[in-house]
Amino acid sequence: MFTIIVAENYDEASHEAMKLVRDVLRKDRPVLGLTAGSTPIGLYKEMIEGYQSGELSYRNVRTWNLDEYIGLDRSHPQSCHTYMREKLFDHLDIPQENIHIPNGDAEDPEAECERYEASLQDVTIDLQILGLGTDGHIGFNEPGTPFESLTHVAELTEQTRRDNAHYFGGNIELVPKKAISMGLATVMRARRVVVIATGTAKANAVYNMIKGPMKSRCPASALQAHPRLTVIADKEAAQRILF
Ligand code: GLP
Repeated sequence: MFTIIVAENYDEASHEAMKLVRDVLRKDRPVLGLTAGSTPIGLYKEMIEGYQSGELSYRNVRTWNLDEYIGLDRSHPQSCHTYMREKLFDHLDIPQENIHIPNGDAEDPEAECERYEASLQDVTIDLQILGLGTDGHIGFNEPGTPFESLTHVAELTEQTRRDNAHYFGGNIELVPKKAISMGLATVMRARRVVVIATGTAKANAVYNMIKGPMKSRCPASALQAHPRLTVIADKEAAQRILF
């Protein structure tokens, strides 16, 4: 079952996503699944505004992030750790110990994947927030990733590295080749999933996610089997599913 919300523009898409976050924040001990990328920045701004206006508190919120590059120190400007601090956590009252992000600098990445998956063993993410890669990836679950995958070491495709090169001064060589990513089965365990997609570059991925066959060549198509999926797309990203 899925719901599609077509937003007028990026700000409206962020605002729609914030409504879902607000629902979750009404719980006693909310658990949010978070993502990096340019897509959720508007949502994170609204989350921060809610705190700064005194309306929302994140003191009881626990978060798990989707992924982290392998080989970047956590203080590297392009690490997910740095992104999350700068774009969200530094501006909220969330306790440090409530924040979970894979350690991409671990000596043994495979062991880190197991540790991360185990940290989610007794936890159910109330709302998993997702962006969408232009090739249909979620987290760093690239095309070909099995639907039953758990947290794993992922090889980034050329396209993903190209898409993310602008964060690394436009130099694809500086984009890591591997990452630790929650798996598709890990994501599917969330109580509710929201995919936010904006801009024409995401139109094919949105189409394949919702209308395409459930095949690992479009990892996001796994979400068709999720009982509570909301897709928030602006008109550009939704252009292929509207007609
Ligand atoms: C990246 C991340 C994803 C993100 C996606 C889209 O590679 N690993 O978690 O959702 O690509 O990124 P953006 O929001 O910048 O378009």
